Amino acid sequence: MGASTSRHSASVQEFLSTGVSRVRSVLGEDTIRELKKGAVELIGRFTEHGRESEDFWTFQRKEDVTPVLYRIHNLEKQDWAQRKLLYSPELTELAAEFIGHPVEPTAFAIVLKEPERAVRVPWHRDRDDVPPHTVCNLSIYLDAADEDNGCLEGVPESHLLPDDADVDRVRQKGPVAHFPVEEGDVVVHDVRLVHASGANPTKTWRRTIIIEFADPAMSLASTE
Ligand code: NI
Repeated sequence: MGASTSRHSASVQEFLSTGVSRVRSVLGEDTIRELKKGAVELIGRFTEHGRESEDFWTFQRKEDVTPVLYRIHNLEKQDWAQRKLLYSPELTELAAEFIGHPVEPTAFAIVLKEPERAVRVPWHRDRDDVPPHTVCNLSIYLDAADEDNGCLEGVPESHLLPDDADVDRVRQKGPVAHFPVEEGDVVVHDVRLVHASGANPTKTWRRTIIIEFADPAMSLASTE
């Protein structure tokens, strides 16, 4: 193990035992600023020109004509200037440190909480068919998040529960922890973690890039 593998050892321990941990300032201010520019550009294609493609996931509210944008899927395949930053070595190295061996990115998306209209993301697991500690999601926060604008919520240690654990029962039993973050923070969570996130009644976007990393030897089903 080299020096870089022990840089976040306390966070890695927390990730292994609870299924989730937060790391500060992984990418640096300039990179976050560039990614935000990209997010503004991508969101603009939706808000100004309507739905860009089927990768732009929306839902309809009864009270509104305009659908609510909540996710841009296949983010690495969209045509945007800052796309290459998704492959920043700092992110792959961080994920490898948490998983404990080399990893490759297996899914990219930006999750969007539109001001005032975003609703809760229901309790779920991203995957329940992979062993604990083998596949993780990095959430790169382009905006600060707390309980007021829908930060991540999760049940610590739920990644260790059986594949067929009842998500609603797990959430009711709890305890439920909230994970407030600053702009530029990265939250690493095991894809098996039982988690959710709140609505965004505030007046500003809450934007998070999500990248899934896995052992290249694993063959994963699509998350769609
Ligand atoms: Ni999720």
